Amino acid sequence: MSVKLLAFAASLRKESWNRKLLAVAVPYAEAAGAEVTVRHFRDFEGPMFDQDLFSTTGLPPGPQAFADALGPVDGILLATPEYNYSIPGTLKNLIDWVSRARPMPLLGKSAVFLSTSSGVVGGARGLWQTRIPFEGCRVSVYPEMFYNGPAPQLFADDGVSIRDPKLAAGIERLMREYVEWARRLKGSTASPRSSDLIPRPPLT
Ligand SMILES: Cc1cc2nc3c(=O)[nH]c(=O)nc-3n(C[C@H](O)[C@H](O)[C@H](O)COP(=O)(O)O)c2cc1C
Repeated sequence: MSVKLLAFAASLRKESWNRKLLAVAVPYAEAAGAEVTVRHFRDFEGPMFDQDLFSTTGLPPGPQAFADALGPVDGILLATPEYNYSIPGTLKNLIDWVSRARPMPLLGKSAVFLSTSSGVVGGARGLWQTRIPFEGCRVSVYPEMFYNGPAPQLFADDGVSIRDPKLAAGIERLMREYVEWARRLKGSTASPRSSDLIPRPPLT
């Protein structure tokens, strides 16, 4: 059974290390049998969450594009930086937007996370924080995560491949294990809460 994944890096930076990390992971996921659609984070850019805006006009175009991209996939392949020891506000804002749509677009998806950062912790703290809103939205996040830094040392002199073959093998193994897990989870994720399916009444 094929597994469809949406892959993106949660950075708008032109030279994003996390987009480079994603580019390393995607071919491994494809080799493991996944059908991967790569999107730029810019495609999902939107205003700050505003309940009044949502109540009047629904999702803005960027978050709507994210919701649409989630529709056909089974899982999410995410590379994200750590901002101030936590999830980037840009990504959290995007999750907040789509979490209000019904049926909730993240419902029943799985996900796998990777990170690199300019610091030696490599984004580990941010990934733990990133799990929270995704899991709150009923996403099954794979227990293993890849994080390594500082980013300039993670990559070889060509700026695109991983310098240490053991780390490259770790990314390959993570993708292989996750794709197999996503395949097994497909169609068997937790039952939705009724509030994930039924539109909420407007807040007063
Ligand atoms: C707002 C902000 C907060 C940051 N906080 C952290 C941090 O907590 N830990 C860390 O290792 N790097 C931090 N950094 C540095 C990022 O790791 C670095 O900018 C990295 O290149 C971002 O990922 P990207 O290259 O994919 O855009 C921060 C950067 C920004 C812009």
